[in-house]
Amino acid sequence: MKISVIGAGNVGATCANVMAQNELASEIVLLDIKEGFAEGKAMDIMQTAALLNFNTRVIGVTSDYAKTANSDVVVITSGLPRKPGMTREDLIGTNAGIVNEVAGNILKYSPNAILVIISNPMDTMTYLTFKKSGLPKNKVIGMGGILDSSRFKYNMSQALQVPATDLEGTVIGGHGDTTMIPLARLATYNGVPITSLLPKDAVDKIVTDTMVGGATLTKLLGTSAWIAPGAAGAALVQAIVRDEKKIFPCCACLDGEYQQNDICIGVPVVIGKNGIEKIVDYALTSEEQAAFNKSADAVRNMNNVLKDLQII
Ligand code: LAC
Repeated sequence: MKISVIGAGNVGATCANVMAQNELASEIVLLDIKEGFAEGKAMDIMQTAALLNFNTRVIGVTSDYAKTANSDVVVITSGLPRKPGMTREDLIGTNAGIVNEVAGNILKYSPNAILVIISNPMDTMTYLTFKKSGLPKNKVIGMGGILDSSRFKYNMSQALQVPATDLEGTVIGGHGDTTMIPLARLATYNGVPITSLLPKDAVDKIVTDTMVGGATLTKLLGTSAWIAPGAAGAALVQAIVRDEKKIFPCCACLDGEYQQNDICIGVPVVIGKNGIEKIVDYALTSEEQAAFNKSADAVRNMNNVLKDLQII
């Protein structure tokens, strides 16, 4: 297995680091446009190999896409991160140009790769990549819901004072502060609905805190978060390269599922060696479906900006 990560910034380097520690591939190529930057990050990661006992080669390159040739999975993190006060959507003009160019370069050398999109605004960047690449739907996957669900579980674990690993919870919809939908009805602590363990206002707070989870961190850190986003990207890649058939909420391109067409947005999917192997129907209540449709409208408005900018 060979994995490439485009963009050696905080998210890309963290993702490569977790993937190396978990030995997800014999070779991981980290690419950045900033001279020497990816080489430095790769060297720093490799200098933990003897300490952490892993045997994955991480290679850093500056803009040399030939080195990414024949990758099985490519993670795209390129683009600007958020600054405090910015929404993910504020990044669209700049990042669309970058992601478009990156995807073209990747596919020149790895035409069979599965692409994982992390760059923001992620749902729109996934749609852009799907539209421009001509790849089948199963091979273009946006990473957002895995991260948001992990934040959802963190918030539940804080409220319930239990380990996050004992919690189940899924966030669907767009990966935006107002578009994501933490499904409180389906969240459980070892099978027990959290709605039966916590008062309504506590559940509502978990939901709200989850939705602004990224913004809260951006405010605290002065830039977008990277540890959980990088680890969430690595979890997605792991499910692909190990053919795990795990269900994760991912940004998938829909063709009638969840009543939506011509859009890429977060829904539960089965992830395995073919990328998105199945879209899972969670049988939403009418209220949840209405929230999902509203979320899709907001994502579609963002996608229309790509048309206004004549990028698609
Ligand atoms: C976040 C960014 C990575 O949610 O979208 O932290």
